[in-house]
This record gives sequence, structure tokens and C-alpha cells, in this order.
Amino acid sequence: MSEETLRAAFAGARVTIAGGLGFIGSNLARRLGDLGAEVLVVDALLPGLGGNRHNLDGAHGRLAVEVADLREADAIPFVEGREYLFNLAGQTSHQGSMDAPLDDLDLNCRVALRLLEACRKAAPEAFVVFASTRQVYGKPHYLPVDEQHPLAPVDVNGIHKLAAEAYHALYREVYGVKSAVLRLTNTYGPRMRIKDARQTFLGAWLRAVLEGRPFEVWEGEQLRDLTYVDDAVEALLLAAAVTEAEGGAFNIGGGRRIALKRLADALVAANGGGDYVVEPFPDARKRIDIGDYHADDRLFRRITGWKPRVTLNDGLTRTLEYYRDHLAAYL
Ligand SMILES: NC(=O)c1ccc[n+]([C@@H]2O[C@H](COP(=O)([O-])OP(=O)(O)OC[C@H]3O[C@@H](n4cnc5c(N)ncnc54)[C@H](O)[C@@H]3O)[C@@H](O)[C@H]2O)c1
Repeated sequence: MSEETLRAAFAGARVTIAGGLGFIGSNLARRLGDLGAEVLVVDALLPGLGGNRHNLDGAHGRLAVEVADLREADAIPFVEGREYLFNLAGQTSHQGSMDAPLDDLDLNCRVALRLLEACRKAAPEAFVVFASTRQVYGKPHYLPVDEQHPLAPVDVNGIHKLAAEAYHALYREVYGVKSAVLRLTNTYGPRMRIKDARQTFLGAWLRAVLEGRPFEVWEGEQLRDLTYVDDAVEALLLAAAVTEAEGGAFNIGGGRRIALKRLADALVAANGGGDYVVEPFPDARKRIDIGDYHADDRLFRRITGWKPRVTLNDGLTRTLEYYRDHLAAYL
């Protein structure tokens, strides 16, 4: 879909982004602002997650921010009269979901259900895009993983995301609330949380190379695919703009698969230096680890024309450049 078509879909559109001060949500808000949408960002700026006011610094267009916790706040004013709702308010940490499962239930299920309830009552015409995760598949039985793969999450986070997907399907079926679900893989880029590894391991790696410290790679042979955030944002927009995507749950990948050790080498090369140590997987992590993953995202590509455009090397370079200029705001 061309830039003109996206502009036609979103220029002047009234859009709400739940979790819009976070990593992916803020990149989406900036892009929608550039496309001429009227954007309302709702975010609780919860400690431990990726929300950061700095993420919207210098953003263009009509962006308004409401700081509110969607676990409790009345969500109706945030969805009433809106054409699109992107739900990126969630928590991503797999280990975090095991350490505090009830918090994960509230953040990933309660929030999604409250937003759907608000749509049912006050914005039945709004189109909802929900950010789910590859974690719903659990340990892959085959690679690449397509949407026919069994759904068998191996951590609490994956179970809650799957439940949230099911709420969207139910509200569509029973109440006609239109939606699309994207199962994202590891997403990286400017504005991600790099303080620690709560968002992805790559955050901690980025911080370490920027600070000139070695970072830890666990085992190193594991395969992953990564999506640069601009490509993930494009996918979210297309999920909303392409009529045929309505009602679907789609994998979003990043193209090639790469072993973690090779990824570490690519990061060090993009940084022009750095060091890492290979360590065994910590026990608690091993128990919920999914092993290798690589998304088959051909269904979404076929329906929407989407494809990832930013290569890994380019994405890592852009990400490092961003943090060299803005590091203090993320530590
Ligand atoms: N980053 C990834 O690699 C990745 C991969 C798969 C899925 N996802 C999903 O995409 C979504 C966005 O991820 P992200 O990486 O941008 O995370 P993030 O932590 O940077 O952003 C989430 C934002 O949601 C906000 N939020 C959480 N609970 C809230 C609540 N109750 N009320 C209001 N705001 C709330 C947080 O304050 C934060 O700003 C999440 O649902 C995540 O599970 C992300």
C-alpha cells in the first residue's frame, strides 16, 4: 500500500493509542501524526515498562496525551468518537509474567477487555488493532511458524495474550466490534526500553555496548527473527487500513532468522566495537524458553502487501545512532 493510500486512510482520522508513550506505541503515534491523524495517546507510564515521555519529544501533528491507568480508569472517553483504537498497552516480560502473574493478568487481559467493553458501549464502529505476540505458539514444532501452528504458550504472558486475542474474536462475533490481531516477534529500534532486559534481551545488549561494557549472550545458538520498529508500525497501520485484514490474527516477522551469537556480532559491528560473553541459560529462564523461532508472515504480506524494509544492519545502526543522542533519557 502506498504512502498516499495510508495518508488517505489516516489523514484527519481520530485515533487512540493505548500504551502510546511506550516503545511501539510512541513510534506509531509519531507516524500517525505525520500522516495527519488526530491522535490521542493514553498511557499510565507504569514503572518497569517502556513508557517514557521523551518518546514523543519533537513529534509532529495533532497529538494529545492522557496519563491514565486503563486497569481502572473509565475507558469510554478515550474511545468515544474514535475511528481507530490501537491497543499497545501491555507488558512484554515473560519472566515478569511468571514472577507476578496476577499483574500480567491485569495488564494484558483486564486492559484489553475493558477497552473492548468501552468500544461495545460507546464506539461500536471503532476498528481495534491488538498487539499480540509470537509467544502464543509456545515452543515451535516446526520453522517457520505459520498461523496454523498449535497454540500452546509456555509462560503466563503467552496465555494472557492468547486470552486477549480470544476476547477480540468474541467481541467481533457477538457485538460486531471489528478488529485485527498482530502476533509480533522481537521488535527493536529507537525508543525501546534499554535500561534492562525487561522488554527484550536486546535492550540490555544495546545499553551495554553504548556504555562500553560486555553483555551476556545466553547459549547463543538460538534462532530469532527481529522486526525493526518502523516495519512493525507499518504493519499495525496496514492491519487497520486493509479491509481484508479485518478479523485476522497474523504473524509479523522480520525476514531472515539469525542465531543470537551472530546477532551479537552484528551489534558489535554496527557499534564499531564491543564485547560479549556467552553464558548458560539461567534455570528460571530455561524453563519458559521457547527455543528457536522464525515467523512465517506470508499471510499478512499477501493480504496487505506489507514486507519488512529495514535490514538488520541498518536497523541496528539507526538504533545505536538514536541512543547515542538520547541515552540519558533512557537510563
Ligand atoms: N516489543 C516487542 O518486542 C513486542 C513483541 C511482541 C509483542 N509486543 C506487544 O506489543 C505491545 C507494546 O509493546 P512495547 O514493546 O511497546 O511495550 P512498552 O512497555 O514499551 O509499551 C507499553 C506501554 O503501555 C503502557 N501501559 C501498560 N499498561 C497500561 C495500563 N494499564 N494503562 C495505560 N497504559 C498502560 C505502559 O506504560 C507502556 O508505556 C505490548 O502489548 C507487547 O506485549 C511487543
